[in-house]
Amino acid sequence: MKAVVHQKIEGLEGLSYSDIEDPKLSEGQVKVKLKSAGMNRRDIAVTYRHGTSENPLVLGSDGAGVIEEVGSSVENWKVGDEVVINPGLGWKHLSEAPPEGFEILGLPDDGTFAEYIVMDQDHIEAKPQNLSWDEAGVLPLAALTAYRVLFTRGKVKKGDTVMLPGIGSGVLTYALKFAKAIGARVIVTSRSQEKLDKAKSLGADVAIDTNSDWNEELKGEKVDLLVESVGRATFNKSLKIIRKGGTIVTFGATTEDTVEVDIRHFFYGQFNLLGSTMGSAEEFKSMLAFVEQHDIKPEVDRVFKLEQFEEAFNYLKDTKNFGKIGFQIS
Ligand SMILES: NC(=O)c1ccc[n+]([C@@H]2O[C@H](COP(=O)([O-])OP(=O)(O)OC[C@H]3O[C@@H](n4cnc5c(N)ncnc54)[C@H](OP(=O)(O)O)[C@@H]3O)[C@@H](O)[C@H]2O)c1
Repeated sequence: MKAVVHQKIEGLEGLSYSDIEDPKLSEGQVKVKLKSAGMNRRDIAVTYRHGTSENPLVLGSDGAGVIEEVGSSVENWKVGDEVVINPGLGWKHLSEAPPEGFEILGLPDDGTFAEYIVMDQDHIEAKPQNLSWDEAGVLPLAALTAYRVLFTRGKVKKGDTVMLPGIGSGVLTYALKFAKAIGARVIVTSRSQEKLDKAKSLGADVAIDTNSDWNEELKGEKVDLLVESVGRATFNKSLKIIRKGGTIVTFGATTEDTVEVDIRHFFYGQFNLLGSTMGSAEEFKSMLAFVEQHDIKPEVDRVFKLEQFEEAFNYLKDTKNFGKIGFQIS
């Protein structure tokens, strides 16, 4: 089969569109013919983590497709079923943190940027009926992350004010739509006026420049919950805009990971700082039901063919996207 694989050279230069062997089906597994896949910032990091390994690794965590073959002892799935893939491997039940051994599809296991993938039967779910293939392919990882950040960790409720710095992010476009669906007020920031305008058209109540003085722009308004994934470039501004007793949930650091914090400001403010990462299979199911119930459509920025992988990775690297970047496979 054809696949986007990484091998031998660290970084994006180690990527190629290659012919590799079809994956083999085992007991309890299904073989999925992928129709679409989605990119995440992690796909770039994986090309460094995989290093100079000679073994071709198929990249990609997100995908959707049609079951082509089922292994022995598979009970709940049949050939022809339309499915989305849960990229969180080994995290079944809702819990405070992932269990030991939790992995993300696309390293060390082969991922979704390929014509076929073999998955354990409990790592797929029915494709939401309201989504096209392009939309379903870019849903799993980022929507699951946004769901856990907002609902499990952030405990957001109707009427809360939520702030989302760096709204171009795939995860945050889901967070915007999920928060609006339950009746929260949403403030977004971006470095790009075009992205601010797009966010407003999707329901953002207030949209401000990431590089502005947020307190001045918001005229003293404070927020209940801030979802922080930009990292060093915004973290301290985020700490200064939440209300006393308010919460930051952090799940990423697109700019640097290390941040200097004024802890006196932090403890006087009685702030809460929570970490989050992806989510369990139970949350994945709840997220899919939420997406169907509220007819939420992923924000698909651009879709590439697998053979255009170089262009797609460069587009992701330059954070030109608003929302998700996908691959059309078949
Ligand atoms: N823990 C998890 O489970 C998990 C899951 C998914 C993602 N992540 C992480 O979460 C982060 C977000 O991922 P993503 O794929 O949704 O989005 P992304 O493509 O990494 O985009 C992040 C956004 O950050 C903003 N940004 C980037 N550089 C900036 C800078 N120098 N100054 C200010 N803002 C900047 C941009 O917003 P504007 O263009 O609007 O300014 C950009 O769209 C990444 O670090 C990713 O690795 C973690």
